Amino acid sequence: MSTAATTTTEQFEKVPTLIFPTATTAAAALAREVADLITARQAAGQTTVLGLATGSTPVPFYRELIRLHQQEGLSFANVITFNLDEYHGLGRDHRESYFRFMREQLFDHVDLRPENIHLPDGTVPLDKVFAHCQDYEAAIDAAGGIDLQILGIGRTGHIGFNEPGSTRDSRTRLIALDRITRQDAAADFLGEGNVPRFAITMGVGTILRARKVALMAWGENKAEIVREAVEGAETEAVSASFLQSHPDARFLVDAPASKALTRVKLPWLVSHVDWDETGTRRAVTWLALRHHKPVLKLLDEEYNENGMAELLTRHGRAYDLNIQIFNRLQHTISGWPGGKPGADDRTRPERAEPHPKRSLILAPEPQDDVLSMGATLQRLVEHGHNVHVAYMTSGDLRVGDAEASKFAKVLLETSEQFTPAGLGGQQGDWTHQVAYARDILAQLEAKGPFGDPGDALRRLKGLIRRGEARDALQALGLPPEHAQFLDLPFYAKGRYRQFRLEEADVTALRTVLETEKPHQIFITGHLADPNSVQGVAWRAFTTAWDQCGTAAWKDNCRIWLHRGHQKELEPHEIDMAVPISPDQLAQKLAAIQKFQSHTNPDQLTGDRNRQSAHTYDALGLAEYEAIEAFERWK
Ligand code: F6R
Repeated sequence: MSTAATTTTEQFEKVPTLIFPTATTAAAALAREVADLITARQAAGQTTVLGLATGSTPVPFYRELIRLHQQEGLSFANVITFNLDEYHGLGRDHRESYFRFMREQLFDHVDLRPENIHLPDGTVPLDKVFAHCQDYEAAIDAAGGIDLQILGIGRTGHIGFNEPGSTRDSRTRLIALDRITRQDAAADFLGEGNVPRFAITMGVGTILRARKVALMAWGENKAEIVREAVEGAETEAVSASFLQSHPDARFLVDAPASKALTRVKLPWLVSHVDWDETGTRRAVTWLALRHHKPVLKLLDEEYNENGMAELLTRHGRAYDLNIQIFNRLQHTISGWPGGKPGADDRTRPERAEPHPKRSLILAPEPQDDVLSMGATLQRLVEHGHNVHVAYMTSGDLRVGDAEASKFAKVLLETSEQFTPAGLGGQQGDWTHQVAYARDILAQLEAKGPFGDPGDALRRLKGLIRRGEARDALQALGLPPEHAQFLDLPFYAKGRYRQFRLEEADVTALRTVLETEKPHQIFITGHLADPNSVQGVAWRAFTTAWDQCGTAAWKDNCRIWLHRGHQKELEPHEIDMAVPISPDQLAQKLAAIQKFQSHTNPDQLTGDRNRQSAHTYDALGLAEYEAIEAFERWK
């Protein structure tokens, strides 16, 4: 560990880690540094050799480089690039090849010379891969080695595609992709089955030879692996951990990706803490879970032994602090997510009045609503609130080709039944419908499993998902006319990892807000990767919210955040915990099942909601079957 952090706050961090408020600010800082490097070397008549990464992480960084080129005259004429990796089996024009990605995200927009661009070739036959990899290493050496290597990090801890097991001195080679990596790429490839099994990647050793390394990570889904790489042992199980022994490597992370670092998660262990309410709740719940004890049984000495003596002195003794936090947690529990009319609401998460409320659910994709808050939605309906669900995108990119093909074939067969000779014996003019179904089938055939779906196909898939969304709402008791489909342009025109927020997206959302004038809004995406559908949708919402200015309805509107698919809120983050009975959980799971086109079996267990209930139980609160959790946006 040659570049370990020096302040006590960062004492657990074995590689310098810079935390930025947002991915945009981090990417801009790195792009500025790269620009300065290129310019300085240019002035000295030297080339700059950059190692580049693909995936969603570097997208804001490339956008900033393009801006610097277009608006500030940064030239790439003396830059040589080497990309980390390429899927094996994909040609350069394949829509998911990293070559194509780099062209679209950077190369086509700057003045890089084509002969200075290098990526492994995914089409090299297996018996030539070894020689190809050796040539790639030789080309890096011939260029003088990499000056600055840009990296992202996979959830397996990979850098490049160096999956767990890659050794410290591995070189460019063919590698089998990990299951998690293939799952993460499934959306891009329209199904996990389409994701290549192998890739050619620079080795860990190749990366470590770069003179400088900058690893970026955004969104809370990266938080745990960032912590392992930064604070854990150097291990082949997490190839990014090898950066700890690089003389000039650093991590640049946004706030959500920093959440698991000790200085953020357990700040009292490393520095002085201003004990605000959330921080206190965080410390006490952490202590209880760590000692496998309910909050009310925590002892003075347990606080002392865990760096919380200062907190204890403020409260006098554990007994008082325990009760305070227990009560706070207790008050988050409410079976009345829209408020309980007529009740004393001073300690309830939602106001009693007005009743009924206008409850607006903004779902980035259909199913975000049902997965994270299906039971809450059902409660709101049952309690008579005016629930309105606005689906921000159609979610068509998740619908497999087989679903579209099934629909087109059913349409064709139906039309046959309505010809004079058909079973129904009824007549009708189905010419247009038949032509439409044939066109869809022809498009599917022409594009193959990897081709870009055209507009008509995307629309059909969007309609399939709309149908599922309506069925799911109906299963929760909400008539489908309460659903609205916004089809925001950022998604309708975009592709995974390449979405761009537009003014039209914001305007559409603002219209919904100004029309509904909601008393409460439920939404997710605040901690998501900013390039994900949920991340972009969240930006669209916050921008629209700001644009609504000082409208009077805003003063009377509470915003409830839920955590999306992959994670649940931690106990100290929860401001409203809606308990779910076994029957309600079954009803929710039945609603999730309506999304036949793409439901993941893990989502049908209810385990995530059960886990939240277990946590509350472990803290000494009531034992429920399951819980849906929300944080209030302040
Ligand atoms: C990309 C690469 C990978 C990605 C990693 C994270 O060239 O080598 O290591 O950086 O899989 O992917 P995203 O950024 O899509 O989360």
